Amino acid sequence: MLERINNKVHLDKVSLEEVAKKFGTPCYVYSKSSIVREFIDYKEAFSECTDVKICYSVKANSNINILKTFKELGAGFDIVSLGELERLKLINADPKKIVFSGVAKSDEEILESLKYGILFFNVESQDELENINLLAAKINKVANISLRVNPDIDPKTHPYISTGLKSSKFGIAVDQALEIYKVSKNLKNVNPIGIDAHIGSQILDFQPFSDSLDRLEELFNKLRELSINIEYIDIGGGLGIKYSDDDIIPSKKDFAKRIVTKINKLKCGLVLEPGRSLVGNSGVLLTSVVYEKNNYGKDFLIVDAGMNDILRPSLYDAYHKIEKVSDCTENKKTFDIVGPICETGDVLGRDVQINNPKKGDVLVINSAGAYGHVMSSNYNSKPKAPEVLIDDGKAKLIKKRETITQILENEIIL
Ligand code: LLP
Repeated sequence: MLERINNKVHLDKVSLEEVAKKFGTPCYVYSKSSIVREFIDYKEAFSECTDVKICYSVKANSNINILKTFKELGAGFDIVSLGELERLKLINADPKKIVFSGVAKSDEEILESLKYGILFFNVESQDELENINLLAAKINKVANISLRVNPDIDPKTHPYISTGLKSSKFGIAVDQALEIYKVSKNLKNVNPIGIDAHIGSQILDFQPFSDSLDRLEELFNKLRELSINIEYIDIGGGLGIKYSDDDIIPSKKDFAKRIVTKINKLKCGLVLEPGRSLVGNSGVLLTSVVYEKNNYGKDFLIVDAGMNDILRPSLYDAYHKIEKVSDCTENKKTFDIVGPICETGDVLGRDVQINNPKKGDVLVINSAGAYGHVMSSNYNSKPKAPEVLIDDGKAKLIKKRETITQILENEIIL
C-alpha cells in the first residue's frame, strides 16, 4: 500500500526514497502484498462459480517472481508467446490452467504448448484451427480449442486497446464462428471445449462485458443443439483500474455478480484472463529529477525515465499520477514532466504540480505495475530499468538493471 509516512512516500512501509538510493533510478517497484490482495479479491468475488479458473494475463507483467506469486495463489495463466510459456515452465505452472491467445501463433508455439499439455488454445481464425489440427496430428495429440469470437462490441476505452470491434484483427466474426465450430467437429486432432472473447482493456463499465457474454451464451446454446458441448466460457480480461482520483472503478464483486449467475445457469466452467486489474495498482516507477528548464514561459521538469521505460503516456496519452517522494503542499509549480528521449512525445505527465524540485529528487509514477516494464525498450540505446519487489517488509531485487554491454551483445560488427 502506498502511503505517506513523515511526508515521504512508502510502499508497504518501505521508503521509496531509500529504494531509489539503493537500486538507482529509473526503477520499478512492486508490492507483493497488494498483488496477493487483488488476486484474493478476484477469487472471493467469483467464489459462487462452481468451476472458475483465474488465468493471469502474463503480458501485463511477466516478471518470474510475479508469476510465481500467482502460481502459489492457485492462479492459471493466459499466454501469447513461446517466451511467456518458457517463463511458466521455469516455475512449473500447471499446464491444465494455461490458455493460449493471440492471432499469429507459430508452429513452434503450438507444438511446444501441445507438448506441455495446456488447457486450450483460443483460436482466432479457421486457418489457425486447421494448422493446429495438422500439428497435433503430427505428434499424435488432440488439441483442446476454444474459438475467440469477435462480438463487435464497443468497450468504450482507448481505440488502441479495443479488441472486440468489427474493425479489429482479433477473433472470429460471430456469424462465422458457428460454421467453424462445425468444421472443428470434423477435424480429428482438435477438440472444441471452449468459447472465448476478449473485448478490450481498461474497461470501466460493466455493460460491454454483459453484452459480450450474451453473444457467447447465444452461441453456446446453438452449439449444444449441435451436440458440441462447451466446457468453458472464457470472458477474457479487461477490467479497468483507478489511474486518476476521478476514476470510478467497478468493484470485482459487482463485476462477478453479473457473470456468475449467467455461467452457473449454463452449467459450464468460467475462465477469466485479468492482467491490469491484478497488478496495475501494485507497482510504481521511480525516477529522479535531472534538470529544470523554461521554454517560452513553459516549465519542464526533465527526469531520467522516459518513454523507453514507460510507454503508456506517449502511446495512449495515458494518465499516471506523478508525485514527489517527499512533497510539501506549498510553493507548487506546474510542470510538464518529460524524459530524456529525443522525441517531442516523450512526456510522462502534463501540468503536474511539484513543490520546489531539485536535481536528484525522486518522483513516483503511480499505477505502473501493468504494461510498464514489459513495454519498455532500448530506444536511444537506454538500458532497461531494474525491478524490485517489496516482500515481507524488504525491498528485493527481482530483475537487475540491464547493462549497455548486454544491449550491444547481439550486434555483429562487419
Ligand atoms: N486476454 C487477452 C487475449 C488480451 O489480449 C489481454 C490484453 C488480456 C487478456 C488482459 O487484459 P487486461 O485485464 O490487462 O485489460 N498495453 C495496453 C494494454 C493492452 C492489452 C492487451 N491485451 C495498455 O498499456 O493499456
